[in-house]
Amino acid sequence: MNDRLLNAADWYPGSWRNKPATQQPKYADPEKLQAAINRLSRLPPLVTSWEIESLKQHLASVENGQAFLLQAGDCCESLEDCATEAIVRNLKVLMQMSFVLIYGSLRKIVRVGRFAGQYAKPRSAEFETRDGVTLPVYRGDIVNRSGFTAEEREPDPELLLRGYERAALTLNFVRSLIGGGFADLHHPENWELDFRTNSLRAEAYLEMVHSITRSMQFMETVMSAHFRESYGVEIFSSHEALHLSYEEAQTRKVPRRTGWYNLSTHLPWIGYRTNALDGAHVEYFRGLENPVGVKIGPNTTPEHVRDLCRVLNRDNQPGKVVLIHRFGVDQIDKCLPPIIELVRRVGLRATWSCDPMHGNTYLTDQGIKTRDFSDIYDELVRAFEIHNEVGSGLGGVHLEVTGDNVTECVGGAACLDEIDLQRAYKSPVDPRLNYDQAMELAFLMSEKMSRKR
Ligand code: PEP
Ligand code: CO
Repeated sequence: MNDRLLNAADWYPGSWRNKPATQQPKYADPEKLQAAINRLSRLPPLVTSWEIESLKQHLASVENGQAFLLQAGDCCESLEDCATEAIVRNLKVLMQMSFVLIYGSLRKIVRVGRFAGQYAKPRSAEFETRDGVTLPVYRGDIVNRSGFTAEEREPDPELLLRGYERAALTLNFVRSLIGGGFADLHHPENWELDFRTNSLRAEAYLEMVHSITRSMQFMETVMSAHFRESYGVEIFSSHEALHLSYEEAQTRKVPRRTGWYNLSTHLPWIGYRTNALDGAHVEYFRGLENPVGVKIGPNTTPEHVRDLCRVLNRDNQPGKVVLIHRFGVDQIDKCLPPIIELVRRVGLRATWSCDPMHGNTYLTDQGIKTRDFSDIYDELVRAFEIHNEVGSGLGGVHLEVTGDNVTECVGGAACLDEIDLQRAYKSPVDPRLNYDQAMELAFLMSEKMSRKR
């Protein structure tokens, strides 16, 4: 590893420009891009350094086993889906999953949505060809449009501003809902389930809500107190910080603190395809004060992970780096143990989180991208077991879910099959767990965690 990466002095928000930057769109008019970036950098931030530091502290509790990280949401947000129902549905599934996990694990759950900025997508090819016509690929709604015409696929700098505004609208609504009591346990009507298929789970859930409400009333009576404050729920935002000019425009200094914060999100992460040590993404991330995630997978060696930890967390602070492993059910047994082993041997701190989605994607015979619920669950179970076996601890889970009743992943209690995928497949990129599947996974994890207690 190049030791220069450990030298903070030569970092600045634009130092990534001296490194190879993959997955960046090519804009026809650099001046227009610069004008959009200039406007972006004058807009007020979406999050504050206090919130970011608070998340870092929560993640430090994850690292010492007192809390568990639930990071979940859409694979890819769209400008169009920035609408009341979609935001409420996604918030509800995140809250309800966290509720189920608290019940089973008796640990604090750190809730992080994949939202309010999850607009840029890494792609495996630069171009797409249909019926002899070749156009640039769709790279997410802050870059270009998904329709297949030359005009729609042209990267448009104005979309950076539209994405930022939508992210602000999303966060604003989420904050108001939470602040206004959406997550207050005194209002179980907000926790109502919407199970269509699995009455057994619905029953278990209702029983759980009932038991929590009763315990809360009991405690309030005994202590003559009202718990609303102590249930003050925090929700954090996260996205893959892929589009580096966009991220740079949000990277700022704040009064009375040292260092630089990315104020567009609490927890930015580096994708699997862009985690090279000598690449522009690692260069950009190494200068941030935010806690940062990094995806690691079958091609990431233990030495690479060790070096990522060193570079992204120079001072070895607790709660600073989340290693999000996504090996796939077939590879986790081979890949994960040597990585945990080396990171621990050299004494580096990290939060371990399992993304059981991205290593388990496959194409059906009809060419539809899907994932099987049982592969997702099995990888997660192995992640818990492997961390246990080597004396580490799985600190969190990273999922692609929606509160909507889509049919994108097969399996689960409703036994969705490949034919069902044609019914309600809405994701423009990766298949998500639908509401029932997400809740089922939360229950299964919760049972697993309660047995471990
Ligand atoms: C994602 O999280 O949507 C993604 C593209 O993941 P990965 O970088 O792990 O492939
Ligand atoms: Co995805």
